Amino acid sequence: MAKIDINKQPFHEATMLKLDIFRRCFREWFPVFVHHPGVKQIFIYDMFAGSGTDSEGNPGSPIILLEEARGNERQHCLALTKNNKYVAFGFNEKETEKKELLDKAKDEFLLKCKSNCPLGKCVFSNAIFCRDSSFEEIMRNEQFGRILANKSYAKFVLLDQYGFSQITKTVFLKLVTSPLTDFIFFISSSFIKRFRDVEAVKAYIDTNKLDFEETKPKECHRIIADYFRDLIPADKEYYIHHFTIQKGTNYYGLIFGTSHTLGMEKFVKVCWLEDENSGESNCNIDNDFEKDSLFYDPINTTKKIKIKEELEQLILNGKIESNVEGLKWALSRGGEPKLFVEVVNSLIAQKKAVIQGKFNKQSSNIHRVDEYKIEVL
Ligand SMILES: C[S@@+](CC[C@H](N)C(=O)[O-])C[C@H]1O[C@@H](n2cnc3c(N)ncnc32)[C@H](O)[C@@H]1O
Repeated sequence: MAKIDINKQPFHEATMLKLDIFRRCFREWFPVFVHHPGVKQIFIYDMFAGSGTDSEGNPGSPIILLEEARGNERQHCLALTKNNKYVAFGFNEKETEKKELLDKAKDEFLLKCKSNCPLGKCVFSNAIFCRDSSFEEIMRNEQFGRILANKSYAKFVLLDQYGFSQITKTVFLKLVTSPLTDFIFFISSSFIKRFRDVEAVKAYIDTNKLDFEETKPKECHRIIADYFRDLIPADKEYYIHHFTIQKGTNYYGLIFGTSHTLGMEKFVKVCWLEDENSGESNCNIDNDFEKDSLFYDPINTTKKIKIKEELEQLILNGKIESNVEGLKWALSRGGEPKLFVEVVNSLIAQKKAVIQGKFNKQSSNIHRVDEYKIEVL
């Protein structure tokens, strides 16, 4: 059966949502490193870039990355120039014909951008590199390996594969163990669920470790995300969050990874803005009351209640002893860290806990928060 080319038709609504999450994720990520004094260079990779647009000219992921790297007021171009910071884009598309279209789309973007630009020099002109390699080749490329390993280079890696077979355990672990490297990838979770017993699927993913519940088809991407979480070395502080996208009867998903709490805070924020019930799907994954229905209550959703109940138990059992531990735990569960502050406030009010040290209610920029200890009464 001939494969449908995503770029040769108008993007489906579900694809638009995927691209919008890529956009908002990168929009949050990029300025952090533009302004980070310790970061010398920024590398942005789109490994399965497509041809740049859909059949109606809507921007695909590489053009979206360029738009966001510029900023709506060209503020990032200005800051990159001022900070004398180098940025490079690596766009890869295996199909030669599509790569040529991608070159054209990139050139058109630059031409249009320059025609309206008041700045003297374009920071992107000589910084966009399009290739028609296979992803496997790039992963073996020594120069790419050196960039990944460099601790003063910030890397954003977008992996919008078809299906599921490109993000193997080896690829995933390579990304997880590369410093200053955040990534987001797409995966066809329903497909893995449906064909988990087929050898061709088992060759890429250890489906014996996937415990799908037949009664909860919506949750198949959660199971896939847990599979990847379990691959992370136990002694490594690392954050993974996932987002489920329903398209008809199928469930696809995104998986985001970062070693930094700020990266996770930002991605989790994007997800909760998209889904105020669970922060992880377009399909009301926990079956909460729908918006506009009588009992709709975005403050007390299934996911929020679950995270808060678990947090309370962990604090009362002495497993979480400080705000830093609690904030990070909420984040690691894909919850907004402010849930932790709500739980601590409630425990103090109920006289079940007191704070040692100065109590603060900070729930963002966790890497800079003043630590306090919690004493259970
Ligand atoms: C889902 S599409 C990407 C769409 C793109 N992100 C966009 O927004 O338009 C996946 C792309 O990966 C390309 N591709 C498939 N296998 C590949 C491989 N092994 N290496 C690199 N590119 C590949 C396909 O030709 C296809 O254009």
